[in-house]
Amino acid sequence: MSESIHLTVNGVAYPVTVDQGRNLLSVIRTEIGLTGTKEGCDDCECGACMVLLDGQPVNSCSYLAVQAQGRAITTVEGLADGDALNVLQRNLLETGGVQCGFCTPGMLLSATALLDRTPNPSDEEVRIGLSGNLCRCTGYAKIVAAVQLTAAELRNG
Ligand code: FES
Ligand code: FES
Repeated sequence: MSESIHLTVNGVAYPVTVDQGRNLLSVIRTEIGLTGTKEGCDDCECGACMVLLDGQPVNSCSYLAVQAQGRAITTVEGLADGDALNVLQRNLLETGGVQCGFCTPGMLLSATALLDRTPNPSDEEVRIGLSGNLCRCTGYAKIVAAVQLTAAELRNG
C-alpha cells in the first residue's frame, strides 16, 4: 500500500509517495534523486548506504522510508560547505583514504557522527566508530588518520 509522506533530507522537505515496504535507500536515490548514498550488500553488512537520522548512523537499506518521516536525514550531499568540501572530506582525500570511493559516503557519515559524540577519539575508538563501514581498497589506516587529523583541526578551531 502506498503512503504520501514528507522526508526531510539535508534540511529540505521532499513530498514523496512510497510503498510502505520501500527502504529509505531506494527512496533517497530514486524519488529524491540523491545518489551519493550507495547500495552495496543490501543486507545491513557494508555501510555503503549509511545516512544519519537525527545525527545517528543508520543503514538505509534496512530502514523503511515511512519510518524516517519527521526525522532529520543527512546524506553525504549534506556534508559539504556550500560548493566546498568540508574539513573531513578534504582530509580523507588528502590522506589517500579515498580510492574507488564506493565506501566513502558511508564512511564520512559514520565519522561525522563519531566526531560529534567523541571530539578527541583514540585510534581504537575511531576504528570502532567505523566498524560498520567496509572498505575493500584502503586498509583503513589512511581513513583513521584522516579522522584523527580532522578531530585535531576541529579541536584547534
Ligand atoms: Fe546497506 Fe550494505 S547496502 S549495509
Ligand atoms: Fe574503495 Fe573504500 S575506497 S571501498
